[in-house]
Amino acid sequence: MSEKVSLKINGETFDLPIVQGTEQEKAINISSLRAATGGIITIDPGFKNTGSCQSGITFLDGEKGVLRYRGYSIEELAEKADFLEVAFLLIFGELPTLQELNKFHEDIKESSIVDDDIRKILDAFPKAAHPMGILSSLTSALTAFNPSKDQINSINYERSKQALYDNIVMVLGKIPVLVTWTYRKKHGLPLEYGDNNLGYVENILKMMFKKPNKDYVENPVLVKALNKLLILHADHEQNCSTSTVRIVGSSHAGLFASISSGISALWGPLHGGANQAVLEMLESIKEDGGDTKKYMAKAKDKSDPFRLMGFGHRVYKNFDPRAKIIKVAADEVLNDLGVDDPILEIAKALEKEALSDPYFVDRKLYPNVDFYSGIIYRAMGIPVDMFTVMFALGRLPGWIGHWREMRLRKEPIGRPRQVYTGNSYRPFESCRD
Ligand code: CMC
Repeated sequence: MSEKVSLKINGETFDLPIVQGTEQEKAINISSLRAATGGIITIDPGFKNTGSCQSGITFLDGEKGVLRYRGYSIEELAEKADFLEVAFLLIFGELPTLQELNKFHEDIKESSIVDDDIRKILDAFPKAAHPMGILSSLTSALTAFNPSKDQINSINYERSKQALYDNIVMVLGKIPVLVTWTYRKKHGLPLEYGDNNLGYVENILKMMFKKPNKDYVENPVLVKALNKLLILHADHEQNCSTSTVRIVGSSHAGLFASISSGISALWGPLHGGANQAVLEMLESIKEDGGDTKKYMAKAKDKSDPFRLMGFGHRVYKNFDPRAKIIKVAADEVLNDLGVDDPILEIAKALEKEALSDPYFVDRKLYPNVDFYSGIIYRAMGIPVDMFTVMFALGRLPGWIGHWREMRLRKEPIGRPRQVYTGNSYRPFESCRD
């Protein structure tokens, strides 16, 4: 018999069914609550206790520090997989065969040409513009250059499915070009086109780092590090940007427009923008003499707005498994590249202090994915204001997978309710009377 809970309101009992996931998580299905109770809704600012959907993409157990994409552990994927394999897995549900993987890559390469007029838009941005703002705008502009191909409708479902696939490979093909162009423009370098003989990750690095009039020499350490970072960032179930992508797409807005809003949501320092904020924080601690204790005290002081960036997570209350992998990778990459970065030591000292400090222990605040990732990006030669852009590049398969799942499951438009706390009715009186 299916489980249910009973809710008593003013002596009347309402039965609500319990939904159970494949990992035994339970949720009270309140979809009938408002109609049954004559208008009562639930309220949960920040959706701390609210499931917005049922999803088969990513499983996360925040108490145990478990993260799996389509059932595969993040540890195994980060160690053994190729980013494009993971992208295929997240989007389509299964690991690709070699033939499917090759076709996917070929289709992405074919779809990677970016309209020359987009270069003109890029040129119009001021030099000081933040790369996340540029990327979000250029991604949105892709809609104008590739109009209305991404509508899924029931009139011609087969054609819609093909259009959706075409859009998916376009996103994965064109956005890396936009990312690398944004970087090159900022650094006064001529724009570089992709090289079809290279792997997906290898090509991103070449488009980014190829020096004018010089042969490009691939660095396997950078390839391995970027592949790992992109996989670790590829999905994280209903986080702020993914929920944004799903909710924008739920109005049947297209894939480019939805991903552009995901990029904007990711930009904030409480979400993906934390990787930039962590690096800036570590730098200012270094410049201030490296006194980590002083900053620990500031983070705990409720009258001080300072927070220890890269610490804490809405869902992980044990450790963030991605942070564990990235910490080891940071040591490896810096070692392999022969980089000695003093801020790595400051980061380790902060982590050590936080892990034994009652404030952080009681609140279950652990380093998150963003705490060490910036140190790796910096060692790779990527400037600080590009860190969140690199995160966005990794998150593309997750955003696409969730958008596709939401549309194929025909989810209703996302439209929360509210409890109104403003003025009651009052008659209009104009200042002009
Ligand atoms: N430094 C100091 N105190 C903190 C921190 C922190 N980084 N994070 C949380 N707290 C405290 C917070 O003040 C609150 O204390 P109290 O119970 O006394 O009021 C308690 O811990 C719970 O925090 P919260 O803000 O209610 O938790 P939340 O789930 O709403 O926020 C968070 C989660 C990630 C936004 C938050 O921990 C934070 O701001 N961390 C720093 C920014 C950061 O690293 N963000 C990246 C997140 S992971 C990657 C991603 O999402 O893209």
